[in-house]
Amino acid sequence: MAKTLKNWLIYTIHDRELKRSAQQYLGGRLLDIGCGDKPYKDLLAPYVTEHVGVDHADTQHDKSNIDLFGTAYEIPTEDDAFDSAICSAVLEHLEEPELAIRECYRVLRPSGVAIYTVPFIWHIHEAPRDFYRYSKYGLKYLFEKVGFEVLEINALSGFWVTFGQLFVYNLYRLNKGPLRWLRVIDILGVLVQLVAYGLDKIDKTEKWTWMYLAVVRK
Ligand SMILES: C[S@@+](CC[C@H](N)C(=O)[O-])C[C@H]1O[C@@H](n2cnc3c(N)ncnc32)[C@H](O)[C@@H]1O
Repeated sequence: MAKTLKNWLIYTIHDRELKRSAQQYLGGRLLDIGCGDKPYKDLLAPYVTEHVGVDHADTQHDKSNIDLFGTAYEIPTEDDAFDSAICSAVLEHLEEPELAIRECYRVLRPSGVAIYTVPFIWHIHEAPRDFYRYSKYGLKYLFEKVGFEVLEINALSGFWVTFGQLFVYNLYRLNKGPLRWLRVIDILGVLVQLVAYGLDKIDKTEKWTWMYLAVVRK
């Protein structure tokens, strides 16, 4: 989903943290696993030499930015082919996450780095292909089982951002048919997101995070 008025809160935080990690860790040929419409192409462009997106043929997203059609379990490329990888908001959609992490390991060169973003407290989306939520302990277990070294696993928010963003999504869900308050919802939504952003700066209770960003090295 693209950044809009109703979700700028989480995208602002996600993009800021992704940029920080990309600056520090990404380089060379980048593989974007489950790339969808490749929303981070421009953000990542300064740090990589090539941005190759892989996604499956049945994706619900626009396919025009997909470079390789395959699955996260079988990426049509040879071993050690990429210097870095990103897999953003995909792991929850995979029935067999361990197999997909293993496949990412295979296509990365030794010492190559992958960045994963993975939701923890979040609603069902892209149904029926929405299978799991992960704690940071589950993520660490999976990455290390496959052989990755975990460099970072950071909670991107606390309670206020998670609650605030879900509250706003729910407001928009009600904003249909005769209950179309339009501008009122937009204004209320922006206010809630601003307050949530501020409160999270004062009180970031990470056990309520909506998402983790993990950095792992082969
Ligand atoms: C929530 S979207 C995230 C898209 C993009 N990475 C982003 O951050 O906006 C989940 C993506 O995972 C892809 N996906 C789901 N199952 C997959 C599979 N088995 N192999 C490859 N991609 C898959 C979907 O097609 C979709 O593009």
